[in-house]
Amino acid sequence: MNTPYSASILILAGDGIGAEIMPHAVTVMQTAAKDMVELDLVHADCGGCSIDAHGVPITREVIRQAEVSKAVLLGAVGGPKWDGLPINQKPEKGLLQLRSHLDCFANLRPAITFSPLATASSLKQHLIASLDILIVRELTGGIYFGTPRGIEQSDNQRKGFNTLVYDESEISRIAHVAYTLAQKRNKKLCSVDKANVLEVSQLWREIVSGINVKYQDVELTHMYVDNAAMQLVRDPRQFDVLVTGNMFGDILSDLAAMLTGSLGMLPSASLNVANRGLYEPVHGSAPDIAGQNIANPLATILSISMMFRYSLDLPKVADDIDAAVDRVLNSGYRTADIMPDDSTETITVVGTDQMADLVNQELKRSKCENSTSR
Ligand code: IPM
Ligand code: MG
Repeated sequence: MNTPYSASILILAGDGIGAEIMPHAVTVMQTAAKDMVELDLVHADCGGCSIDAHGVPITREVIRQAEVSKAVLLGAVGGPKWDGLPINQKPEKGLLQLRSHLDCFANLRPAITFSPLATASSLKQHLIASLDILIVRELTGGIYFGTPRGIEQSDNQRKGFNTLVYDESEISRIAHVAYTLAQKRNKKLCSVDKANVLEVSQLWREIVSGINVKYQDVELTHMYVDNAAMQLVRDPRQFDVLVTGNMFGDILSDLAAMLTGSLGMLPSASLNVANRGLYEPVHGSAPDIAGQNIANPLATILSISMMFRYSLDLPKVADDIDAAVDRVLNSGYRTADIMPDDSTETITVVGTDQMADLVNQELKRSKCENSTSR
């Protein structure tokens, strides 16, 4: 069968469990793509492994390769080996440069409870059953990138400073993305800020509110970030889509991940205006568990699903991956991080490689069934 088109994907496995998970996740990606899209895969370094091999967290060539790729799939970056480096040379800088160069300003972080994992959450089951929320985090501005920034000598002590800045166009473009996504979901958008203290948040609130006239079917609410953190733990299902700035989104998305049972389950997509994207699990490189074959590969696999959905425009393939993950979990397979505390069901603990392989086999099986039932 002729595949309809080809897409170039840049794979940056990175450090720690990122490097460990990636080969298994790529196998799943190839199975998912079969007969649907020809994938042209390029592998390169980013993060600590790039510092070791090339002296910088990301090289210009890799950034150029990312710019000509349809999507970038990233594992995770960082580790204690590089912790002592100055901020500008740290592994994380490679990731930040990539986000910024690709102008991937819209970071989509869904937090969905897979029903078989309801007992793995630290919250009571009835609070998180069928949870499905989406955090839309602004990713290329705010305090992460604002200037001036630095550490300076002032009088007889040092002073550290960063700048939280957003201009109207940055706020408006992320708001449009969030409204559009809310329209396709439950039509509720909550904008999170700190407008009782920060001028930048007052502007944020004004711009997000002004845009509501273009999306009148979406119900807009505002919440201060401290309250949002509390509400996410108290009653997460009150939310549908949340939109917020870079740092608030960083914090709230880790919190939301834990509601679903494990950080190891949370994928993300970072999109630019043309839907080119950078896809990465929300979890980090987890150096403490790296190399032991215990890391959960599902957040990376679900990030691949988001890649098929948003950058390759193949929602059916994305649905197939999501369904395969669901079936594997329903069959009782778990990595260590998503083990229930106590369970009456039969649960099988599996390693990184086996979990990815189970999803891969499940996908192959469903592809086979689909082609024979056609
Ligand atoms: C994330 C991470 C990154 C961030 C780090 C690794 C730079 O925490 O993607 O949430 O702060 O954005
Ligand atoms: Mg984070």
